[in-house]
Amino acid sequence: MQEIKSQDYSVYIGSDVLDHLQSFLEQHPVKYSKCFVMVDENTHKHCLSILLAEVEYLKDSEIIEIESGEINKCIEVVAQVWLTLSEAEADRKALFVNLGGGVIGDMGGFIASTYKRGIDFVNIPTTLLSQVDASVGGKLGIDLNGLKNQIGVFNFPQGVFIYTPFLNSLPKSQIRSGWAEILKHALIRDKAQWEVLKNIDLNTVNWDEQIAWSVKIKNDIVLQDPKEKGLRKLLNFGHTIGHAVETLSLEKNEIKDLLHGEAIAVGMIAELYLSNKIADMPQIEVDDVVKSLVKLYHPVPLKEEHFNKYVRLMGNDKKNEKGTINFTLLKSIGEGEVNYTADKNQIIEALKYFNSVL
Ligand SMILES: NC(=O)c1ccc[n+]([C@@H]2O[C@H](COP(=O)([O-])OP(=O)(O)OC[C@H]3O[C@@H](n4cnc5c(N)ncnc54)[C@H](O)[C@@H]3O)[C@@H](O)[C@H]2O)c1
Ligand SMILES: [Zn+2]
Repeated sequence: MQEIKSQDYSVYIGSDVLDHLQSFLEQHPVKYSKCFVMVDENTHKHCLSILLAEVEYLKDSEIIEIESGEINKCIEVVAQVWLTLSEAEADRKALFVNLGGGVIGDMGGFIASTYKRGIDFVNIPTTLLSQVDASVGGKLGIDLNGLKNQIGVFNFPQGVFIYTPFLNSLPKSQIRSGWAEILKHALIRDKAQWEVLKNIDLNTVNWDEQIAWSVKIKNDIVLQDPKEKGLRKLLNFGHTIGHAVETLSLEKNEIKDLLHGEAIAVGMIAELYLSNKIADMPQIEVDDVVKSLVKLYHPVPLKEEHFNKYVRLMGNDKKNEKGTINFTLLKSIGEGEVNYTADKNQIIEALKYFNSVL
């Protein structure tokens, strides 16, 4: 098992992590009055019985099941769960356990942080994305009126327990989606790691090793910039264009089931073009990364008639005084840098470039 120390808590990673959770809870200074485990139907089916069998401390927990999906990361579901806790007479010494992907983790952490002004919670992330991305940083919350993460708080769990065998039941598409964030972490911070990752076959990954490495990179950045004032923007590489692609694909329902990481792969390809034009990233490196991303994600072309809409979507939160848009770009592989700007024409060129490399 590996331990990575984050803000006030640790992330534990490995296939023996559930044993550790048992002793962690036994030895915890707070003796919990009651435990609640929140799941969705998929983690209920694939993960819950393993958790309850391995962690004796949780065997009498009350199970709270919500429906899976981003659409349920909303205030109505939060209110239902608050009510469930209240009816079960959960007191301030109750423990809330999040067993699921990023939806369960973000929302469950928010519920625990607000119920009776905050009860303890632990996270057991079960998707690759939530293991490598949502496990550090303390961002918790829900969506509002279709806008992602509009309501929330920064707060920390007592611990994060990444039991890598939970990935065995995760659909391959979800693995590829989470993998995009792992690739991003290498691209912004560690060239040697990129050289390793670009040759890895996703069927034979040593998850303990790769997840630990990836969490360390994000943790390192987050510890230096806990409230996202500067350096943490490094993590936005691929996300300015990627988010616009994700939003429009959801709105128009045109690229069916485009997952977050798949949209970020599209964003990274387009932003590699900008990295070359604006941050002088060598063309040979751009070609290397683009080739690997196209091979792994087989993205479909973007429709030219939507290009203006993409730029407008990017403008929503990223526009500065001059009407240009902020980007995190790469100066070279492993060397991300924040606070570049691109104008509308450059962004449209980047979208055209994306279509040209497929
Ligand atoms: N807090 C943060 O820093 C942070 C970072 C990244 C993403 N997020 C949030 O995370 C969410 C996305 O996370 P996600 O991709 O994990 O989505 P998700 O929670 O919706 O999980 C994806 C799907 O996988 C299923 N699933 C989960 N674990 C499984 C398992 N072991 N086996 C089989 N199926 C399983 C889920 O039921 C769901 O259908 C978004 O809401 C995003 O905003 C938060
Ligand atoms: Zn992301």
